[in-house]
Amino acid sequence: MFSDRLGATARAIQAHFDLILGKLDDLPVVHAMRHATNGGKRLRGFLVMEGARLHGVAPERAIWPATAIEALHAYSLVHDDLPCMDNDDMRRGQPTVHRKWDEATAVLAGDALQTLAFELVTCPEASPEPWVRADLALRLAQASGAQGMVLGQALDIAAETAERPLSLDDIARLQQGKTGALIEWAATAGAVLGQSDPAPLQRYARALGLAFQIADDLLDVTGDSAMVGKAVGKDAHAGKATFVSLLGLEAAQHRAAGLVEEACDSLAGYGAEAETLKEAARFVVTRAH
Ligand code: IPE
Ligand code: IPE
Ligand code: MG
Ligand code: MG
Ligand code: MG
Repeated sequence: MFSDRLGATARAIQAHFDLILGKLDDLPVVHAMRHATNGGKRLRGFLVMEGARLHGVAPERAIWPATAIEALHAYSLVHDDLPCMDNDDMRRGQPTVHRKWDEATAVLAGDALQTLAFELVTCPEASPEPWVRADLALRLAQASGAQGMVLGQALDIAAETAERPLSLDDIARLQQGKTGALIEWAATAGAVLGQSDPAPLQRYARALGLAFQIADDLLDVTGDSAMVGKAVGKDAHAGKATFVSLLGLEAAQHRAAGLVEEACDSLAGYGAEAETLKEAARFVVTRAH
């Protein structure tokens, strides 16, 4: 069942972080990295493990890129929460890194988590083939930088002070970058590791990523702060451009439901084996955190 598998993956990723970060020096920046990588749903890591399973790649190998994408995601959250970005005090039910330590430690912990991600995808344990590791790293760089996550974050921040409201297409591009790109990397990493065509999982991830961000935006309006583990009701106040701000609650919910169907349809070629990924897509829009 999906929730059991998600839980098992979350525990495996946590154990892997404990192993890797446990070897580092006893420094505030390392403590901050541990803090930032604790908790979370581990959805991106789960997508790596499931994609790998569908392509016959052993979990002992897939755990490396699965942990890598969670490190990269954690870095993006640490920086997203900084006062110069979203200025948030709580993340995953805990104080944000700059609140528990200071801004310099948060910047540096984020930096180190990003480079850790590249270390984990390029280490020999991830794949015996050097070109497969290089391909994963190239794709991760593209997904993370100025054509991916950073682009989306820059558009998100710029939208706060834009003179005209963003169009639906503008918002889709923003979200495809800030959330979609890393989810797409995660969903396709197993096919890349297994040296198979990543196209069907890419179609799945495009729809899933957008649905995921719409759900995040909906939770900001309808969610409970203690349940979601972060402040809610902040997007409208900050002038964020979201599907909810443009379409309203109901149309955004409808749009997310349509995207889940689209995500599930793109898995047809995998047959019953892909049932867990379909459940993951349904979870993304029904989740309460
Ligand atoms: C939150 O991501 C930030 C977005 C990209 C919307 P998640 O909702 O996956 O956060 P965790 O990892 O479960 O805390
Ligand atoms: C964060 O989006 C996206 C990234 C960190 C790349 P949000 O700003 O909407 O995420 P939350 O709501 O703070 O988790
Ligand atoms: Mg943000
Ligand atoms: Mg934020
Ligand atoms: Mg949000």
